[in-house]
Amino acid sequence: MTDTTLLQVNGLQTAFHTEEGAWLAVDGVDLQVKKGEIIGLVGESGSGKSVTGFSLIGLIDPPGEVVGGEVLFHGQDLRQLSEEQLRQLRGDRIAMIFQDPLMTLNPVLKVGEQMMEAILTHYPETPKAEARQRCCDALAQVGIPAPESRLDNYPHEFSGGMRQRVAIAIAMLNKPELIIADEPTTALDVTIQAQILYEMQKLCREQNTALIWITHDLGVVAELADHVAVMYAGKIVEYGAVQAVLQNPIHPYTEGLLNSMPGSAQPGARLQQIDGMAPTLTGREQGCTFRPRCPYAHPSCAQSAPPVEQIGQRQYRCYFPLLKEETK
Ligand SMILES: Nc1ncnc2c1ncn2[C@@H]1O[C@H](COP(=O)(O)OP(=O)(O)O)[C@@H](O)[C@H]1O
Ligand SMILES: [Mg+2]
Repeated sequence: MTDTTLLQVNGLQTAFHTEEGAWLAVDGVDLQVKKGEIIGLVGESGSGKSVTGFSLIGLIDPPGEVVGGEVLFHGQDLRQLSEEQLRQLRGDRIAMIFQDPLMTLNPVLKVGEQMMEAILTHYPETPKAEARQRCCDALAQVGIPAPESRLDNYPHEFSGGMRQRVAIAIAMLNKPELIIADEPTTALDVTIQAQILYEMQKLCREQNTALIWITHDLGVVAELADHVAVMYAGKIVEYGAVQAVLQNPIHPYTEGLLNSMPGSAQPGARLQQIDGMAPTLTGREQGCTFRPRCPYAHPSCAQSAPPVEQIGQRQYRCYFPLLKEETK
């Protein structure tokens, strides 16, 4: 771990306990996030992205349970913290933005009131006037017009896009070191999505905030991220710098995702299906879980799960990687 490492995740495992037994929705995730770095966590629906995001900050509730691994934030394992210590961290040094802004926003409180609360919970000594000014500035930063008067509105008085901007403003209020954003723009129209991506990137760069952006949309990753982690069936199957991965995917699943993108990598362009279905938790195969859908699969892929391989700065889990000359 270098001194620029903010978050180091080692072997994270999260299980869901069901009547048939425990199933690993997250199955050995390793991830490193440097200060100020933007990482796209991408994969089809059901691949374990949200469960990963929630696991990182202790937001998994029964029947789910984090059962293995470490989540080192500045070298300290968040899994060892008490619920109270986690609460202090969340909304201050680590913030989360959800697909539905109403998971953050309280419908019966004015936006200004909940923003003030977000500051004063963590910094009770802050003078009221100063806190209010910071709320106002935060709304302006995310592109909300007339922020001063908007502080007195309720969440329902904002459009969907504006409401998500408010949630982002709240996440940014205490200048977190890390934001975990779970598909926050997926429900929004493409133009608004592009604006929000641009603004998030700018804010994170200005404040040196690291960002894990969870999405099923490679176009979003292409626009936003420095590095991309491609997730399939609870595992990160490919990791690398965005341009490298998008131009020369090593894992057949990444190639499939890219081929299924309509046109160029525009944000909002929905992925079409790769042949076959993502495995359900209960229906997972022995060996490589992508094998049943993989055009390059070999009988030997059934024997054991491919370990992480490294080539240069890139990592992948595949016995038959798509290594072209330019990738090596
Ligand atoms: N509360 C839950 N109970 C049981 N299974 C769950 C629960 N939440 C998520 N899962 C399962 O965990 C897997 C990963 O889900 P999720 O992380 O939400 O996927 P993604 O965000 O990539 O679409 C899915 O198979 C999902 O059905
Ligand atoms: Mg999800």
